[in-house]
Amino acid sequence: MLLCFVDEGSVSARLDALAMTDRVWIEAQGFNAERGRVLMLPAVAAAYPNRVWIGLGSGRIDLAFAQALPDRLYAGDYRLESSLTAEQISTVVLGFALGSYRYGRYKTVTPCAARLVLPEGHEQSQMSAHVARADRLARDLINTPAQDLGPRELGEAVVAVAERHGAIAQEIVGDSLLEAGFPAVHAVGRSAAQLPRLLTLRAGSQGPLVALVGKGVCFDTGGLDLKPAAGMALMKKDMGGAAIALAVADLVLAMRLPVRLLLVIPAVENGVGPNAFRPGDVLSTRKGLTVEVTNTDAEGRLVLADALTFAAESQPDLIIDFATLTGAARVALGPELPAAYASHDSLQDALSAAARTVADPLWPMPLWSGYEDELQSKIADLQNASSSGFAGSITAALFLRRFVPMEQAWLHLDLYAWNPKDRPGRPVGAEAQTLRAVFELLRTRYCTP
Ligand code: BES
Ligand code: ZN
Ligand code: ZN
Repeated sequence: MLLCFVDEGSVSARLDALAMTDRVWIEAQGFNAERGRVLMLPAVAAAYPNRVWIGLGSGRIDLAFAQALPDRLYAGDYRLESSLTAEQISTVVLGFALGSYRYGRYKTVTPCAARLVLPEGHEQSQMSAHVARADRLARDLINTPAQDLGPRELGEAVVAVAERHGAIAQEIVGDSLLEAGFPAVHAVGRSAAQLPRLLTLRAGSQGPLVALVGKGVCFDTGGLDLKPAAGMALMKKDMGGAAIALAVADLVLAMRLPVRLLLVIPAVENGVGPNAFRPGDVLSTRKGLTVEVTNTDAEGRLVLADALTFAAESQPDLIIDFATLTGAARVALGPELPAAYASHDSLQDALSAAARTVADPLWPMPLWSGYEDELQSKIADLQNASSSGFAGSITAALFLRRFVPMEQAWLHLDLYAWNPKDRPGRPVGAEAQTLRAVFELLRTRYCTP
């Protein structure tokens, strides 16, 4: 079938170009190019493809519109009209792929009945296919419950990506973390049945080094400061940062960006047990700073502290960390807008611009030094949770900043990684937030001459 996008302004011109029978049919249906409305045109002759019109209203083909297409269209194989621009084709191809995602690990899901036949020789479609694959990888990992996705399985996912691209994956497991100098990762993860791990992936031998760090808390019970049931319900997704960091790595490698990559994932379960770290404990960190645990539920920043220190040791051109770090970021910005923190304003601006270009929204937030005192501890270099509770996402970011060298270019993304409500093409479940924005940032930073 041929898919035709019709906006309000072009309906009448389009009608004029049609055969009488088609015109009568369309007018009888009262089709006025209403946004999202689908109309099948009768096939007039065997040589002629069936045509499906879809209304754009007064708007344009954007990613959200394209993402809704698989849910809206009748079953069948669709080709695109030749009048579309290269940019429109890319949007439709990517949107279609993202909107066709189903999570089918535990029940049979019917695959999407509407399929897009990829236009030939369109280079952008290739990139869209890579983006869609990376997006699926992240969403599959996030959707998978902790019973089947602990630190070990997260490690296997990193190995799979490394193998696909000829990269090197390594892991440091259990008590070896202490010898290797990751005391905070060990402290947070040691109570769980699955041992804590530090996962790394390295690739490339030339170009600037980009370090991607992801919070890999495979389940967050809150620890001894146990979360209430409602707060724990979705905590299988607390490795969303790790999943997205891994997906960015996969995409960077698939697209052969001229960079060296270092991916660092502290993979733990924040559990409860006789061996659990406790409120009041003072933890050592890789950096040498001591941290008083004022809340075991603020575990993400603890494991990220060691991971960021480790990433910075290689003096990368840029460090980007991804984390489902605070509930406070959701209070401030809701589930759709990740909070973005940057070491330099120019980096913040570049990220915001990239996010707009690819319609992967996020919002800039301040590393407001005035709140540093919230992290002061009486007995250690700092504490992991402030007592006032004010500006929780900012104080978490300030905590992380203590583990990033002063002049280091650094981005911190505090995200939700979940879509809480059903919308066309966007089912309730995992969302690979910031994947495309960060990839676009990297592409423009390292690929423009
Ligand atoms: N994983 C949570 C943050 C979170 C909660 C993200 C809900 C998305 C949705 C994190 O480990 C956490 O529990 N943070 C605490 C920190 C507090 C104790 C300082 C929070 O935000 O309540
Ligand atoms: Zn927590
Ligand atoms: Zn957490």
